[in-house]
Amino acid sequence: MYLIHLGYLGYDQDAQTAFIPNEEIRQELTAATRRNPKNISVSLRNYNKNIADKTVLSSRKDENTMKYDFTTILDRKGKDSIAVEPFEADWIKWPGKTKEGFDIIPMWVADMNFPAVHTIPEAIIERTKHTTYGYFSPREEYFDAIIKWHKTRNGIEGLEPKHIGYENGVLGGVVSALNVLCSKGDSVLLHSPTYIGFTKSLTNNGYHIVHSPLVKDENNVYRMDFEDMEKKIVENHIHAAIFCSPHNPTGRVWERWEIEKAMEIYKKHDVYVVSDEIWSDLLLNGHKHITTQSVSEDAKQRTVALYAPSKTFNLAGLIGSYHIIYNDWLRDRILKESSLSHYNSMNLLSMYALIGAYKPEGYEWVDELKEVLSGNVNYACDYIEKHFDGVNVSRPEGTYMLFLDCTEWCKKHGRTITELQAAGIEVGVIWQDGVAFHGPCHIRMNLALPLSRVKEAFDRLDKYVFNVLSAPRGHFNPQEG
Ligand SMILES: Cc1ncc(COP(=O)(O)O)c(C=O)c1O
Repeated sequence: MYLIHLGYLGYDQDAQTAFIPNEEIRQELTAATRRNPKNISVSLRNYNKNIADKTVLSSRKDENTMKYDFTTILDRKGKDSIAVEPFEADWIKWPGKTKEGFDIIPMWVADMNFPAVHTIPEAIIERTKHTTYGYFSPREEYFDAIIKWHKTRNGIEGLEPKHIGYENGVLGGVVSALNVLCSKGDSVLLHSPTYIGFTKSLTNNGYHIVHSPLVKDENNVYRMDFEDMEKKIVENHIHAAIFCSPHNPTGRVWERWEIEKAMEIYKKHDVYVVSDEIWSDLLLNGHKHITTQSVSEDAKQRTVALYAPSKTFNLAGLIGSYHIIYNDWLRDRILKESSLSHYNSMNLLSMYALIGAYKPEGYEWVDELKEVLSGNVNYACDYIEKHFDGVNVSRPEGTYMLFLDCTEWCKKHGRTITELQAAGIEVGVIWQDGVAFHGPCHIRMNLALPLSRVKEAFDRLDKYVFNVLSAPRGHFNPQEG
């Protein structure tokens, strides 16, 4: 890492500095700035644009008719990413290892393999040029950016800065809210399949999870079982529920009538709702997100809603989520609760990341991303239907996850779900155990990669896994394939 004094480059308006990650880029930036000494920001912008080019394994820009880059295969190795170095993650047990001859295709943790929209690093770099990073209050721009985002994307009117509060991760927000709404050991209603983060954080914090299973309808669409929800609420004296919208891992984007019906049940039994809407920007094939708080005045008052740019723009490593709470009593209680640990403080650079993400370019970038993800999901689901007999997938309407039900396939081939998962991992398809998400014979698969990588993964699953796995396990060899 180099610290360049911009005065040295011929730009000494404020004699500021910039951090430059390596010698090659430093030289390039120095040359560019000397050519155009008056305009360091142009050079920095070009430098940002070039960051991706310096870390690519291969570039397929010719295929790319979009404004932003969703085709470059990034080399994230050594760049602080568990996604591409899965076997380094010590909190997860893998049933197998990838064999030599196969590279890793990261299709597990909810992380995307696309370069970020350039306005994010620009905003961060611009701020780092002023080299003091002391205590701070969130800028007006931060709140304005969130208010505008929700107005434009979700049609929300009347959102004010006071309704918005920083959360050090959505899961942190979930726990703070439950700490206010429940006593330890209280039962909380969740739908199953269930995002593993809920399971861990609720269990760790002493809450008892009661599952209401989603049920597939005649069109293979996961639906809430309202009767079951009500029964469980009454039987277990439940007064708090987690609502995941869109739903991870099934990818359901709930329709308005479904949210309304769920909220009526919650109202009837005085159940407060923690609505995790972290996936609400990632909608596929034209599906629309309805915010839980928007379905009625009662829903607005009984719901703690949680959002973040982290899923949408792949900023999980920067941390930075936020709540929207309209109910003054609830908000005051939750602010107090989350202040107790002294851990719930915003990071300066993650604030700038959010401001950079919610710029006009970010809106465009997400629109293109949704097209890319829709294309990937459609490709994968069509491929499964055509080639993987015995694998059932309910087409996701949002997120970038597939939740593969492999029950039939496992039965037919006399294999366990763990053996199946291991077989994919051996050929570099790093997909995730779905059992941990309460899918008894399921695998979760992340499709936020360039389409060329998705195609490669499905090709490998076809050649080495789903259509050959009656053969002994030693068969998985790239040379033979
Ligand atoms: C539904 C859901 N909520 C929360 C999270 C994690 O959010 P955070 O990292 O902000 O705690 C994820 C991550 O995948 C998620 O899928």
